[in-house]
Amino acid sequence: MTKLTIALSKGRILKDTLPLLKQVGIELLDDPKESRKLILRTTQDNISVVVVRPTDVPTFVQYGAADIGVTGKDVLMEHGAQGVYEPLDLGIARCKLMVAGMEGVDWKQPRLRVATKYTNLARAFFAGRGQQAEMIKLYGAMELAPIVGLADVIVDLVDTGNTLKANGLIPFEEIADISSRLVVNKAAMKTKYNEIQKFIEQVQDIVS
Ligand code: ATP
Ligand code: PRP
Repeated sequence: MTKLTIALSKGRILKDTLPLLKQVGIELLDDPKESRKLILRTTQDNISVVVVRPTDVPTFVQYGAADIGVTGKDVLMEHGAQGVYEPLDLGIARCKLMVAGMEGVDWKQPRLRVATKYTNLARAFFAGRGQQAEMIKLYGAMELAPIVGLADVIVDLVDTGNTLKANGLIPFEEIADISSRLVVNKAAMKTKYNEIQKFIEQVQDIVS
């Protein structure tokens, strides 16, 4: 029996992914919150799941440590995700990647300090607009940066806008629409074609 390994993103994406998997008949036999096991068994004998940080999913799939992965488009764009196919938009964990900052800030100025965890993406975005942007890499609480004078603007995810509003920031420009995607290792797509294609089609049927 051909074995498949699926790398899932922990956190909010996992919460939205498990119901999708359940609809195609795949349920975890180990609870990822309770178990200390890193490779989880599922109701399908040939399918196992690893639950990792969203930013690690492209790496697992790129190197073939997992055949299939689920992670955010933001993560894929920042990573580059070479060597993986992206066959399906799952339509979950939707939000927008935006430039935001304090009212009155001229975010179109030629030189800008940008706080973000998406340094590759943000650098490319501002370069494309002819702006020279210095990147201040942060791993969370981006919204704090303009308030304490660490940066002119932030590049971060916005959903309801509540976090921006609560910190007195406003959105300036949308960079990209974000949702979670299914990704597939390119070599596995050839060597395990039937199993992977069947999985993609089953998931496609429930998300379209
Ligand atoms: P890490 O552990 O790698 O630091 P994280 O703590 O940012 O990740 P989550 O907050 O679970 O993890 O977010 C992971 C993904 O969920 C993001 O990459 C994005 O695709 C999506 N996401 C993040 N924030 C939102 C949001 N407010 N609304 C909808 N989707 C979101
Ligand atoms: C994400 C993002 C924003 C917030 C946006 O943070 O980094 O701060 O959600 O959502 P909103 O527009 O609905 O307020 P998250 O809650 O994942 O916290 P973290 O980045 O610190 O993990």
